[in-house]
Amino acid sequence: LILIIDFGGQYKQLIARRVRENNVYCEVVSYRTPLDKIKEMNPKGIIFTGGPASVYAENAPTCDPGIFEMGVPVLGICYGGQLMAQIFGGKVNRASSREYGRVALRMTDKEGIFKGISDNTKCWMSHTDFIEIAPEGFTITATTDHCPVAAMKEASKKLYAVQFHPEVEHTEMGREIIENFVFEVCGCAGDWNMHDFAEQSITEIKEKVGDKKVLCALSGGVDSSVAAVLVHRAIGNQLTCIFVDHGLLRKDEGDQVEQVFKEKFQMNLIRVNAQERFLGKLAGVTDPETKRKIIGEEFIRVFEEEASKLGQIDYLVQGTVYPDVIESGTDTAAVIKSHHNVGGLPEDMQFSLIEPLRQLFKDEVRKVGEELGIPEEIVWRQPFPGPGLAIRVLGEITEEKLHIVRESDAILRDEIRKAGLHREIWQYFTALPNIKSVGVMGDERTYSHTVALRAVTSSDGMTSDWARIPYEVLEKISNRIVNEVDNVNRIVYDITSKPPSTIEWE
Ligand code: XMP
Repeated sequence: LILIIDFGGQYKQLIARRVRENNVYCEVVSYRTPLDKIKEMNPKGIIFTGGPASVYAENAPTCDPGIFEMGVPVLGICYGGQLMAQIFGGKVNRASSREYGRVALRMTDKEGIFKGISDNTKCWMSHTDFIEIAPEGFTITATTDHCPVAAMKEASKKLYAVQFHPEVEHTEMGREIIENFVFEVCGCAGDWNMHDFAEQSITEIKEKVGDKKVLCALSGGVDSSVAAVLVHRAIGNQLTCIFVDHGLLRKDEGDQVEQVFKEKFQMNLIRVNAQERFLGKLAGVTDPETKRKIIGEEFIRVFEEEASKLGQIDYLVQGTVYPDVIESGTDTAAVIKSHHNVGGLPEDMQFSLIEPLRQLFKDEVRKVGEELGIPEEIVWRQPFPGPGLAIRVLGEITEEKLHIVRESDAILRDEIRKAGLHREIWQYFTALPNIKSVGVMGDERTYSHTVALRAVTSSDGMTSDWARIPYEVLEKISNRIVNEVDNVNRIVYDITSKPPSTIEWE
């Protein structure tokens, strides 16, 4: 285990990703974690993240100096490095100018974290404070034009500090530096893999559940699907899955979920066909937030009704993944976005939770899914919002509009897949902006709907750019939609990034 101690740095997830890329398990914890707890976790190495504060400011996040007495290697990044310098009696100061961006690094060391790294390389800087004087006993191992101590070490104690950010892509040898820390300095084995993870989880779930009954709200999304199959492997039909089909899914999606989980995996799946109920509640509603709220509440009601028919249930499976845990868990993180997620369950339900994916990133969840034999369409499914097509049909939702979105979306997905772009583009779908315009088909004037194509690249959905789909592919999609979907005579392509837009239209 590598322990990442979070001082509020925006790149903490990235550091965790980089460590895990080496098949080494890591966890992110708050800087407030007590020393005893840290010792109990028995890490092979510790990484301090960056952070927005100044180490010399009042109430600045700090750490128990006892960490440095554990005999465990520590790598301090940016703020984390400055903190190390300060604790050992060095001097941290405000730089005369902020250093931001790609900077040439001059290295004077070939050992430890810099083993095999060329003397001159570019690194990514983003700081206002800097280490002015290294503490006694530390050796300066790299400099830049503005940083007399861009990196330092105390080799006998295995303490390393860098002012730059090895975790970001822009630091040319960043991956190698982290790899060196993990293997050369900490001596990790690099044998953490998804096969063992799955096996271990299955054993743990078995032990935890015993002969009790377990419930899962299955949406067909990657996370809930993988969680459900994992739990099913452990306890078989002690697990019941409830799949609420609210009628706002993509084309054939409900049937696909049923086919995969009921037929392929022989799971105990209850599909609730609640289309009419949801559409009834949504009739005449145009405000996006109201739509989300109605769907969220109705979802809970349907779920509760079904669950109450099952008798005593002790556990609930949730597909919580590690980014959710980090964002809500380590108290220094800024709240980024709280989606009104369908699947948010009532607080007064008396269940204990089983969250088998709590420790995994999305790509790791996908690997577990592949290990478990879940089909590609589900394991590699793009993100899909809980309220479904309701937030892609702008304004009032009607059967006719849902039909247009569903059919046009199926064509878009088909063509993106045929063009081999489906793994590159984070998310792609169609939306119905609720405008009609004049067109001509044959010799006839038409007055029909406009369909908007949306396709974005992103790594986490928090920010995104519009995907540069080749014109030929766009042309094919456009032609097919106007020809194959009734009541559509115009196609537009959304070319805004997020921010200022959002990915979804509502
Ligand atoms: P926005 O539109 O906010 O979306 O840029 C960012 C990502 O979140 C998805 N999204 C949702 N996911 N429940 C969800 O589970 C929701 O209510 C919801 N709204 C948006 C969206 O598809 C994109 O991937």
